[in-house]
Amino acid sequence: MKATRRGFLAGASAALVAGCTKATGDSGDSAHPEGAAWRDPEPEAWVPDEAVDADAFAWDVRATDVQPDAAWFSVRTTEALVELVIVAAQDGAWIEVQRVEVEVEDVARVRVEGLTSDTAHRCALMTADGRRSEVVRFRTALGEGESRLLVIGATSCLGADDRPWPTLTNAAAEELDVMIMLGDTIYSSSTTYEGYSEEWATQVQYKGLQDLQRSTSFVATWDDHEVANNWYLGDNVSEDQLEAATRAFKDHMPMEEGPGGLGIWRVLRWGEVCDLIVLDSRSERIKDERYLSDEQMAWLKETLSTSTARFKLILNSVPITDLYSLFLNVEASDRWQGYEAEREDLLGHIDDQGIEGVLWLSGDFHYGALNYVSPQGRVGADQMEVMCGPSGSFINAIATLHEGDDQYPILLGVWNYVRLELDPKLGTVLVQFVDDANNVVAEQLLAI
Ligand SMILES: [Fe+2]
Repeated sequence: MKATRRGFLAGASAALVAGCTKATGDSGDSAHPEGAAWRDPEPEAWVPDEAVDADAFAWDVRATDVQPDAAWFSVRTTEALVELVIVAAQDGAWIEVQRVEVEVEDVARVRVEGLTSDTAHRCALMTADGRRSEVVRFRTALGEGESRLLVIGATSCLGADDRPWPTLTNAAAEELDVMIMLGDTIYSSSTTYEGYSEEWATQVQYKGLQDLQRSTSFVATWDDHEVANNWYLGDNVSEDQLEAATRAFKDHMPMEEGPGGLGIWRVLRWGEVCDLIVLDSRSERIKDERYLSDEQMAWLKETLSTSTARFKLILNSVPITDLYSLFLNVEASDRWQGYEAEREDLLGHIDDQGIEGVLWLSGDFHYGALNYVSPQGRVGADQMEVMCGPSGSFINAIATLHEGDDQYPILLGVWNYVRLELDPKLGTVLVQFVDDANNVVAEQLLAI
């Protein structure tokens, strides 16, 4: 590995981990005592008096798109009327801060406001006759002016090959600040809303996702399989089918409505530390012509240029890395590589404006990797991308056969989730790939 480009930190901590280390968990025991503070410890689990009804609440409740003072919830239950009860950590105890009535017809999405920033919360669904769901933990986002070390998880591709997704159980133990889902969270074969909805519902019966959902909130984008394999509107997917798939996606991963398109591209801000910039790289694509709409591209550039956060994580689903040296131009129209003018325009915008703290996050290819997005000497050659997951889909072995290319410091053919430690004080991101056995199988400290 040559460290000739910007991005790597010199020294022992920057070396690839040859063996295995256990993922550390929230120890507060930073390797960098001069770095940003860890969050305060959270109180012990909240245990309401009501009895758990696992049949009525097989889905529990899912927290998504948290903000400093608000959060979204996907409420799925066989009950027609429930209360969503939210408690917040105050002085080492749990204090009830919200109790919201929710009418449900299979599934409902709810936005709750009036929450306090950077605070541990727990929530559960309750019935009038004293039954409840399991308890779900989440943290609100940092507010304006707030800063600390953030620990974020990311993965993709929850296919059947590695169910029940042990990496997600490992991620759950971290009690992450937030979990990023980069697409292919379901592999749908449906065409109707009822079909999509049922597929979203059944994912949670697998322990990994159930554990993870009880431990933190999600920010999700989609790839193709939330709708159909390699879909294009009007080709293999109709307007009605897209509407059904979109509604089911948003019912189960509720989101702040973005400013354009289907509302999926949006930004979630975590104080001074990071912006989570969510792309929709699927629904605006015109094969071999256009990857993002002009509107989404203009918004993306503007969001990057005006962001005041130390880090900008771009949730990108399909890699922007030029993978020519691995895959030539095979199926290049299914990734940024097939839209070279658009890709270079965007990467050039980031290069030319000297925007710091940009880290691309993607999935889709079914192997884990840390990439420079371009070969040496090309536009974007200093920008880095982490390919996160898969957590469950078949492993793409081609990448792991590749040797000795400085564009890909890490290539991993294992099921994984990625643990990211964002230190705004040091300006570093620790990238750790965690496998099924909860071992860190590769890691790299980035200065970006
Ligand atoms: Fe996939």
